[in-house]
Amino acid sequence: MRIVDASFMQSAQSISDSPGPDVAEIAFLGRSNVGKSSLLNTLTNRKGLAKSSSTPGKTQLINYFNIKFKTDEENGMPPDLFARFVDLPGFGYAKVSKTLKAEWNRNLTNYLEQRPNLQMFIHLIDARHPELAIDKNVDEFLEKIKRGDQLIVHAFTKTDKLKQNDLAKLRREYPEGIFISNLKKRGISDLQNKITGYLFGN
Ligand code: GTP
Ligand code: MG
Repeated sequence: MRIVDASFMQSAQSISDSPGPDVAEIAFLGRSNVGKSSLLNTLTNRKGLAKSSSTPGKTQLINYFNIKFKTDEENGMPPDLFARFVDLPGFGYAKVSKTLKAEWNRNLTNYLEQRPNLQMFIHLIDARHPELAIDKNVDEFLEKIKRGDQLIVHAFTKTDKLKQNDLAKLRREYPEGIFISNLKKRGISDLQNKITGYLFGN
């Protein structure tokens, strides 16, 4: 199973101006600058699809991308399968006003809690700082709101910045984790298999 097409669909401020909940969605969430937009680009193999930047706070809206998958079946015509990737604004970004921050939080929380077609939460965590309080809070929140049909995945990013033995230690501590480097294109097929396995059962 692989991604054969990816395109930007639309941005939204909240659920009310979002597309209809007609396709399974996978949300990428995590601290500002952790590598959400970059990961979306690596997964889809499309460099500028989601706007990434070294300046935190780049993604400020809920961004929807249409994703088309194909199975690698050799016989017959395998059907196209579809999903939507959702690039979310990062949390913990200090440089926005309190009012804007509160509104962001409300819109994001509503999306995470109320979107009926949201199937997977991909929680990105900086591999160098796996124990931050803000990520623990997000984890608790996700565990609390998670429905029976939803899955939480922990994806540790920027693993290229870790020494080999620190990475090995992290893998032991989080055996269920996915270990990503957008720079070195590592861990990408692990995450893709996790997504297609959950959505389509292969
Ligand atoms: P916001 O939109 O602000 O929430 O940030 P984001 O989580 O979307 O992060 P983004 O993808 O824009 O990446 C932030 C910075 O981290 C960019 O300079 C990326 O090049 C860099 N980056 C992302 N992934 C990796 C990685 O795996 N390794 C390294 N070394 N740098 C990365
Ligand atoms: Mg972003």
